[in-house]
Amino acid sequence: MTFNPLEEKGMPLDKQLRNWHQIVAKPYKKQHVDCYTRTRQILMNGIEVEGWGFKHQFNRFMTDIDQEDRANISRLGRIENQQQMTCNWLCPADQSVLETTLGYEQVAVDLTAWLAQNEPDKYVKETFNFGLLEDFDHLYRYAQFAYMTEGVEPNDIVKDQTDVIVGRPTQHHHNCNGLRLRKHYDKNTASPQTKVNILTVLSGEQQTHNFYAEHGFMYGDHVLRETYAEIKDVEEEHVTMYESLIDPSETMLEKALLHEFTEVCNYYTCLEDEVDEEIKKYWEIFLDMELGHLQIVADLFKKYEKRDPEEVIGSEIIIPCRFKSQKAYVQKVLEKEVQKRLAPNGEYYNSFDEIPKDWASYPVQERVAEISAPSENCINLVEYYHDRDVVEASENLKNKEVGLLEQGLQTIAVAHNTVSPKKLQEMIDNHEERETEKEKII
Ligand SMILES: [Fe+2]
Ligand SMILES: [Fe+2]
Ligand SMILES: [Fe+2]
Ligand SMILES: [Fe+2]
Repeated sequence: MTFNPLEEKGMPLDKQLRNWHQIVAKPYKKQHVDCYTRTRQILMNGIEVEGWGFKHQFNRFMTDIDQEDRANISRLGRIENQQQMTCNWLCPADQSVLETTLGYEQVAVDLTAWLAQNEPDKYVKETFNFGLLEDFDHLYRYAQFAYMTEGVEPNDIVKDQTDVIVGRPTQHHHNCNGLRLRKHYDKNTASPQTKVNILTVLSGEQQTHNFYAEHGFMYGDHVLRETYAEIKDVEEEHVTMYESLIDPSETMLEKALLHEFTEVCNYYTCLEDEVDEEIKKYWEIFLDMELGHLQIVADLFKKYEKRDPEEVIGSEIIIPCRFKSQKAYVQKVLEKEVQKRLAPNGEYYNSFDEIPKDWASYPVQERVAEISAPSENCINLVEYYHDRDVVEASENLKNKEVGLLEQGLQTIAVAHNTVSPKKLQEMIDNHEERETEKEKII
């Protein structure tokens, strides 16, 4: 059955304002929540933050629009703001910043993997795969701190749905900003799926950046604070990368239409997939609200641009956030692309041999890690707690870890505190020896 959002009336705007009791929902229980309920909650917060912020940008920059229409955009922004509070505050007070952080990176890994496999544009797919391996490594770095600082094991959060092991090393994610810029799609030929996919992941990445910016200082451990700073900076690069895929010549009204459509599609998917009956009610109400938003913006688009909204968003719903385990896909990309790097003009270097000595990202990487790379220090530190790094993966993937590190590490602009493949192998061997010793005692 096909569902055409443009044919739905949705909830009228004058019915959408809610009271404080309705806005602040009952949080989920961190011990019992399905990990993908948490990822939906995290993603929808990011989508609402983007939806809210965009309305403000719209009214700041949009000229030639009637005052009453501008007022309606402002009213919509108020509703996005209320929805954002509900989504974000489903997060319980006893879920630590690091636990929530593992949730954020699980969103990034499993969402981007889903999008890559459902992306019709080959180049956009390649960009998703590239970003995927960076967030995959962030999950691994943060998992070390969750264990050292709070005794949290990765599967307490990711529930065995997402592997936690070294990816493209975080110290190599720092690039010259110009290199992060990718080639943008053509608004006249790109499919609605491509547009929604990009806006979805962009909203998630932007919120990840904001979360680290607002919470990284909440720990006393200096290495952890530095790691938040380092990874937050990569999320800034991810925002730059994903937004550069969007055609900058889209009009503000075209963008407004895409924002509401993206919200509709994401809530529609959440509603289809949700296992928590209480939270499902919010997805249902918010889908109805977004269908109402879409109607309003579609009318503005017709009024001012004299075009059919279907030209931009098509006539069918899109599924942008089907959260499910993506281990096999991620492993495939990891083994094939961990050594990939950004090249000028939106191209990619597939291996280190292709990277010229004057690559614009080398000086950036040398500068930021001239004292040390915090993301490497966390692996050095965890040796004292656990003999080796904290990893959750199949035996098959675990056995490839040292090889993956070897494949992903550069030979130039490497921080002096880097855990080398040889060092990692020693850590793994020591751990095995000590585990055997322990068994003898028990
Ligand atoms: Fe919204
Ligand atoms: Fe990340
Ligand atoms: Fe990211
Ligand atoms: Fe909306």
